[in-house]
Amino acid sequence: MAEASTDTFKKDSGSQLRVDYDGLRGWLEAVENLGELERVSGAHWDAEMGAITHMLTEKSGGTAPTILFDDIPDYPKGFRTLYGQTSSVKRVALTLGLPIEQERKVDIVQRYHERMQNLELIPPRWVDDGPILENVIDGADVDVLKFPVPRHHEQDNARFIGTADCVITQDPDDGWFNLGAYRCQVYDGKTIGCQITEGKHGRIHRDTNFERGQSMKFVVLCGQDPLLYMLSSSPLPEGVSEYDFAGGIRGAPIDVVRGPYTGFPIPADAEIAIEGEAVPGNVRPEGPFGEWMGYYSDDSVERPYLDVKTILHRNNPILTCAPQHKPVDETGLLKGVAGAAQIWRALEACSLPDILGVWNHTAGPATRFTVVQIRQRYPGHARNVLHVASNCQGGAYAGKWTVVVDEDIDAGELDQVLWAMCTRFDPISDTDIIQKAWASKRDPLYLPGNFNNRILVDACIPYEQKLKGTFPPVVDVSQDLRAALKAKFPDLLGNV
Ligand SMILES: Cc1cc2nc3c(=O)[nH]c(=O)nc-3n(C[C@H](O)[C@H](O)[C@H](O)COP(=O)(O)O)c2cc1C
Repeated sequence: MAEASTDTFKKDSGSQLRVDYDGLRGWLEAVENLGELERVSGAHWDAEMGAITHMLTEKSGGTAPTILFDDIPDYPKGFRTLYGQTSSVKRVALTLGLPIEQERKVDIVQRYHERMQNLELIPPRWVDDGPILENVIDGADVDVLKFPVPRHHEQDNARFIGTADCVITQDPDDGWFNLGAYRCQVYDGKTIGCQITEGKHGRIHRDTNFERGQSMKFVVLCGQDPLLYMLSSSPLPEGVSEYDFAGGIRGAPIDVVRGPYTGFPIPADAEIAIEGEAVPGNVRPEGPFGEWMGYYSDDSVERPYLDVKTILHRNNPILTCAPQHKPVDETGLLKGVAGAAQIWRALEACSLPDILGVWNHTAGPATRFTVVQIRQRYPGHARNVLHVASNCQGGAYAGKWTVVVDEDIDAGELDQVLWAMCTRFDPISDTDIIQKAWASKRDPLYLPGNFNNRILVDACIPYEQKLKGTFPPVVDVSQDLRAALKAKFPDLLGNV
């Protein structure tokens, strides 16, 4: 952790692109300037806010607004919730400090991927004060229901304070801090759950502590810079703190104050931070919750919970939320971009050449339908790509379909991908099946032992035919004719 000095401010060697907002409130101003902020007054915390977000997002085609709810019944004006942070490509670009306008969806993945390649990690910087310390509550006054915590879906049996959150845990051996988005159910004002799936970094930290019979401290941020949330909900390599990564993307350290109970770093400009402790053996039934695969697929299960010790919050705090549901939900693009960039990184780390695009389709959801676009260079190239994309850290969790396509197919355009799958793919020779892969119990079809089977689809032109030029030519308009016609009929064709 860096001390307060400008020494830690190191410009990365990459592009001039920079995150151009300060914290969640700065982000909201920027979103308002983009015309993508919707303010809603009077929606109830009990299922209404979640349902409104669902209805505005499901068919929006990546243009849904972010929604700031205020005047929530039972709560003081100014105690707000924010939904739909990442449901438009423009807002994802804003959050990552990338150009707002993209020609193709995969362009933003490529830019993010390139940015990560050049990234210099910048550790956070300790500061003594910040707006998060405007209210520090402990002892008998602790009550997480002082915030308008939603019941997100009609069949959830509880209110969940943590969805678009960052759960901070510390590695008990090396001391690094992980931030992961893990859901937190409310049991009462002083007790919350934290559902962390096997293999996730927070879970490894918790399991390691519990195996040693040790209690464990947690911080749950549930209102923070959207960049931290995006990084927390997408995989980074083991041992790399999301704080350092966020600092690298911002080009400046994240300012953090020391949590009064945990001593953990808490962003000075966060909205709400909850400090707590989990004790080995202390469990309570958790869930069900409307899940990211679009089903209430997880029964109520006994899981460790947190005893809340302190609550820190800004005046007029904003609780960030992301209830997932049947596609398309607000997290589809997040996985489409951040998840795809991780897969791209793994493909290049394995020295696989000519990767032109990666996209996780939002109806998937997450990495259930991943498409990789390549320029085939050798026989077997497509198969190499399929196996790495489906098994690397960014793509392995709960995948189902991984598809590889040629350079003329835009990985982000489903119609083109389906055309390739319908015309360049043979079900017998172009399919591989992976068995007993890393699954999720949120999958209604997970197998005993929590495995799944998944399919790899080679929808590229057979390499030999491509080489010999014997595959039929595509019916298309040539680039030359397109350009000529655009020049001749600018009013008609200027925008196509
Ligand atoms: C809105 C949202 C909610 C999530 N909820 C959970 C959850 O409850 N438990 C979980 O293990 N992962 C959940 N995830 C996925 C993790 O955040 C994701 O796998 C992330 O990479 C975990 O961080 P880690 O790799 O540092 O463990 C959620 C993701 C999003 C976007």
